Parts: sequence; C-alpha cells; structure tokens
Amino acid sequence: MAKSLVAATLMWLTLAHPHEPRGPAKLPSPLKIIDDSIEALGGQNALRGLKGVVYESADIFHTSTLMQNYKLFKTDRYIVNLGSQNLSFSFSEDTFQHRIDRVFQHSDYFFFANPTLPPGHFSLVMQNGTENGFACYIDGNNNAFIAPDQVAGYADSALTEYLLFQANKFSPKLLLDIRSHKLATQIVELNRVENLAVHDFDLDITVIFDAYTHYPKIIRSFEDHAIFGNTTQDLELSNYAEVSGIQFPHRRMVLYNGSAILEDTTVSRVSVNPTFSPGFFDGLAANETETRSAPPKRIAGYTHAEIGEYWYNTFWGGEYTGTYNNLSVVQPAADLPRVHKLLFLDQTNLEQLVLEFDDSIIVFEAPPHQTDLVIQWVNETLKRPITHFWPSHHHHDHNYEVRKYVELGAKIIVPEVSAPYWKQIPNAKLITFNENKPYIHSDGKMQARFLWRPEAAHSVDWTYSVITTACPSANSTILTYVADAWSTAFPFDSAFARSWLVQASADGLSRNALAVPAHGQPTPLVELIDALAFDYPDLKTTDFKTGGNICLKTHH
Ligand SMILES: *[C@@H]1O[C@H](CO)[C@@H](O)[C@H](O)[C@H]1NC(C)=O
Ligand SMILES: *[C@@H]1O[C@H](CO)[C@@H](O)[C@H](O)[C@H]1NC(C)=O
Ligand SMILES: *[C@@H]1O[C@H](CO)[C@@H](O)[C@H](O)[C@H]1NC(C)=O
Ligand SMILES: *[C@@H]1O[C@H](CO)[C@@H](O)[C@H](O)[C@H]1NC(C)=O
Ligand SMILES: *[C@@H]1O[C@H](CO)[C@@H](O)[C@H](O)[C@H]1NC(C)=O
Ligand SMILES: *[C@@H]1O[C@H](CO)[C@@H](O)[C@H](O)[C@H]1NC(C)=O
Ligand SMILES: *[C@@H]1O[C@H](CO)[C@@H](O)[C@H](O)[C@H]1NC(C)=O
Ligand SMILES: *[C@@H]1O[C@H](CO)[C@@H](O)[C@H](O)[C@H]1NC(C)=O
Repeated sequence: MAKSLVAATLMWLTLAHPHEPRGPAKLPSPLKIIDDSIEALGGQNALRGLKGVVYESADIFHTSTLMQNYKLFKTDRYIVNLGSQNLSFSFSEDTFQHRIDRVFQHSDYFFFANPTLPPGHFSLVMQNGTENGFACYIDGNNNAFIAPDQVAGYADSALTEYLLFQANKFSPKLLLDIRSHKLATQIVELNRVENLAVHDFDLDITVIFDAYTHYPKIIRSFEDHAIFGNTTQDLELSNYAEVSGIQFPHRRMVLYNGSAILEDTTVSRVSVNPTFSPGFFDGLAANETETRSAPPKRIAGYTHAEIGEYWYNTFWGGEYTGTYNNLSVVQPAADLPRVHKLLFLDQTNLEQLVLEFDDSIIVFEAPPHQTDLVIQWVNETLKRPITHFWPSHHHHDHNYEVRKYVELGAKIIVPEVSAPYWKQIPNAKLITFNENKPYIHSDGKMQARFLWRPEAAHSVDWTYSVITTACPSANSTILTYVADAWSTAFPFDSAFARSWLVQASADGLSRNALAVPAHGQPTPLVELIDALAFDYPDLKTTDFKTGGNICLKTHH
C-alpha cells in the first residue's frame, strides 16, 4: 500500500505539466494519505496500543530568536545555548497528558536578566479538557526574570492553550486523532519542491508528508504575527527510527516563517509505554501554590504568534497586567513641560514618552497591550491625533504593536536600515533617517532628534533620541531616551552601554543629560558614566552637534 502511494505521488509529480491546472480529483484522498502514513509508521494497531511515550533529548536542545535578534530578518542570537529535556506523553480514552522536563542554559544575551547566567530548569505538566485542562510548572520556571528555583505554578489560560496545541502537533497519535476531522488534500511547496499534504480544518494545521517514506515531515500551523503578517510555524520531524514496532522521529526542529530555525532538538532515546510514577502528570495541590488552575482558552488580543515568541524567549509572565487607573504621567523636566513620561504602576516593565508639539504628537515605543492604554490616554488627555511614532529598535517587547500606530495613520520614524522590516506592516508610512542626517522634529519651541549609527551594539537598527528646547542654553535640560543599552530597573550589558556612551559623546550629548531608560526611571547620565569609569568629555547641552547646530532658531 505504501509503495503504491509512492508510485502514485511520484507519477503525479512527474506527469503533471507545470502549467496544466491540476484537478483535486487526480490527488489521493486525505484519508488515504493519512492511512498510508499510519501504515508506514507501524500501523493502526501499533499506534492505538500506545499508552505513553518519552522522548529523551540528552545531547542537543537549543532555541533561537526572531524577537530579540541583532539583524532584522535572520536568527542570529540564541535564547538557550544548550540544554536537555524529556518530553513525556500519556494517552487514555478521555485525557491527553504531557510533561516537559527541561534543563537549560541561557545565552550571553541574557546578561540583562541576570549577569551570572544561572542555569534554568522546569518541569511543566499539562492535560487537555475545556473544564479540567491545565498547565502547571511543578518545579522551576521558564521566565528569565524570576529566580530559577522559584516554582511558577499554574499557567494562565492563553499559555495553556498554546502549550497544549504545540504538544498535540508533536503527539505520535496525531494522525489517528485527525482521521475523523474535516480534511482536504493539498500540495504544499517548500523551497520550490512540491509536497503532498493534508489540511485539517478543525485544528487548522497542515501535515506535510515525505514522498518516499510517507512519514509526517512537517506539522504546520498558522500564526498572525503583528509585524511579519501571516506566518507558518513548522514542526519539522526527521531521522525516523523504529522503536517497539513504531517509527519515531529522532530530530525535531521548529521553523518559523519558512526559514528561521527557532528550535533544534535531537532525540537520544524513545521509550514506548513506560511506567510513569504515580502523580507524574499531576499539577500542584491547592495548598502548594498561590496560582490557580486555568483551563486552556484562546484570549482575545493574544495570538499564538505573540504567546509563542514570549514563551520561547523566556519572557512570558501571563497576560499584560497594567491598568488605565494605574497610569502615572509625569513631566521629567521642568523646562520641557510637553514631554510626558508614562509609567503603569502595576506593570512597570517599560516606560514610554509622549511628546506634544504644536501641530503633532510623537509616541515612543509600542509594547504589546500597553499600547492600547497609551493610545487611550493621548485620546482622552491630549485630545489630538497621534501623528508620529518612533520605535527605538525592532525587538518585539518594545515594538510588537507598531501596527496600531500605522492603523491610526501615524508616520513611523525609523533608520533607513530598518525600512524593509517595518514595511512588512501593510500601509506603513515611514520617515527615514541615516547616520549623516538624523531626523529632527521641531515646532520652533521644542525639538527631538533621532540618532542611528551603523553597527550599534544592541541591534542593527538601534537608535536613541534626545529632546531639548528648540534653542537651548548651556543649562537647559537635554533628555535622552535609551532602550536596553542602559536600564536601571534591572542589570545591563556593559558592552552595550559603553558602545552607547561612545556614540553619545561623539554626538556631543551633555554629561549632564537626564536619561529616561525604557526599563527604569529617569536617571542622570553621569551615573552610567561613573558606573563604567568612562572618560566622558565635559560637554554641555549646547555642545550637541549631530544633525547640525542644536539651536534651531538660527535657521528661522
Ligand atoms: C517571512 O517570509 C517572507 C516570505 O518568504 C519574507 O519575505 C519575509 O522577509 C520573512 N520575514 C521574516 C521576518 O523572516
Ligand atoms: C530525562 O530522563 C532521564 C532518564 O530518566 C534522566 O536521567 C534525565 O535526567 C532526564 N532529563 C531531564 C532534563 O529531566
Ligand atoms: C482530550 O484528549 C482525549 C484523548 O486524546 C480526547 O479523547 C478528548 O476529546 C480530548 N478533549 C478535548 C476537550 O479536547
Ligand atoms: C492573515 O490571515 C487571516 C485569516 O486567513 C486574515 O484574516 C488576516 O487579514 C491575514 N493577515 C494579514 C496581515 O495578511
Ligand atoms: C497539602 O495538603 C496535603 C493534604 O491535603 C498534605 O499532605 C500536604 O502536606 C500539604 N502540603 C503543604 C505544602 O502544606
Ligand atoms: C492601581 O489602581 C487601583 C485602583 O485605583 C489601586 O487600588 C491600586 O492601589 C493601584 N495599584 C498601584 C500599584 O498603583
Ligand atoms: C478618540 O477616540 C474616539 C473613539 O474611538 C474617536 O472617535 C476620536 O476621533 C478620537 N480622538 C482623537 C483626537 O484621536
Ligand atoms: C539658565 O540660565 C539662564 C541665564 O543664565 C537663566 O535665565 C535660566 O533660568 C536658566 N535656566 C535653567 C533651566 O536653569
């Protein structure tokens, strides 16, 4: 049977003329494709007899990022350099149970969370069910911002739903489960090679099969990413080998948007129908945690794209908790009364600036969910449209929701290098600048400059901003908004910080500048200068030079 499908597929692939329309009638039915695959994997009886499986990955487990990368379009940074894990599944008539035991080492990028880079670990159990389902960390956690030994307890509904969905994609019983779903045969092109596939409309996944072995090759799901648009999340399975009469993949990769490898794992051992110790898949008892069990549920405004990025990047801490009532707005400089600093006292992770000019309003940064509240504040308090928006750099914790400003018609201020990135958002209107010509925004009373240099340390498109009056004197305030290169709310990477001081001193930034870190509180720049023992020139506000004379009045 398997052989005949190979023949049919190969015949279809070779005989069909590339320009000839292919009727679906010529393709095998979805059920035939699935049943041939099940046959190749070991047969229905063998798969139905599976009560449990453990995939051990003793050697290679690593994850990479498209959210915190240096370049814009490539994964060039690891989240987890190395690790090991066991993925356990237990199947019964009415319940699907899964457990991840993982030990991992963050990459050096994570100095900002903890410069000692302690190894992380967690045991995360989960089970399905619209009412009784849950996901629970019974040991450790997957959050770079909390101590490794702190037990995170029950996950929120949105993460639980995401985790169960991903676990299901890897389940060895997936093909048996989807036989009863609404299915269609499809041809999916991968790197210009056509592959036979079955789309499952109930789960909204596509299983792509290997033409020769018939094994599932890719389990594809679809995500709506706020920057990339519609993307694919591919679980790519390979190196199948037989264990107890069933073929199991011994390598799994997660490919995002067709090319970026976000996870690469080798399987060192597969155990079939092992004896799990009693309670192996149980969550914590109510007296062992302050967290509460939450059944899997999709939450409006939280896509798999966002949850998946935050979880993979070890930043997911649940839904956004900031509230409008807890918004604190201050003017950090007395002589710049139209510079507003917004901080949510119940979610202090990222502070933003809103600049009010005579004819325009600029918002700095677009973190997910907080953005809705900032837009509401501008609407209710300043009562004027947001005309401009500036992202400090492309990392998604800072700027996942730029599209909300695009939708409001705001122009997006970015360095030329990142224009192709932000153009991924439909209808984005960009104002670009470069090294020689920073963007200067002014109304004759106040000015903001946006400054980029090639090879900034943190990311290729990283920029910072300075704000002062249109024609400052030596003692006027010069504010500088700095994302990540310096943070006061948590540690920072000295290399990123030093690189910024080199740039800032070359730009002529006063050593008396007041820095507004994205993560932290307004702090005199001199504190960073001292912390790094940096020989910083004795510059005053009037010494700023990049973009031309800091006093714009001479041009009027
Ligand atoms: C996503 O894939 C599309 C199509 O290949 C490509 O044009 C785009 O640059 C990719 N985006 C990212 C962020 O990888
Ligand atoms: C995985 O299971 C093996 C065998 O029980 C054990 O030796 C190993 O420590 C486990 N790995 C993790 C990360 O828990
Ligand atoms: C949970 O998993 C079991 C076993 O796969 C399945 O029979 C049941 O329908 C699932 N429940 C839900 C709510 O998906
Ligand atoms: C992504 O796909 C969904 C459903 O197919 C569609 O509603 C949405 O507009 C698409 N988004 C983009 C950015 O193309
Ligand atoms: C929780 O309660 C159970 C019995 O209900 C008890 O055996 C266990 O020791 C308690 N755990 C803690 C941490 O108090
Ligand atoms: C947030 O606002 C609520 C209601 O106004 C208030 O009770 C609470 O103390 C505030 N929390 C913080 C952290 O400011
Ligand atoms: C404020 O929001 C309301 C309701 O969405 C909208 O009608 C109005 O145009 C907004 N005002 C400004 C100045 O953006
Ligand atoms: C700066 O100095 C000028 C004159 O020396 C004075 O008029 C002005 O008030 C000072 N401004 C600030 C912000 O201290």
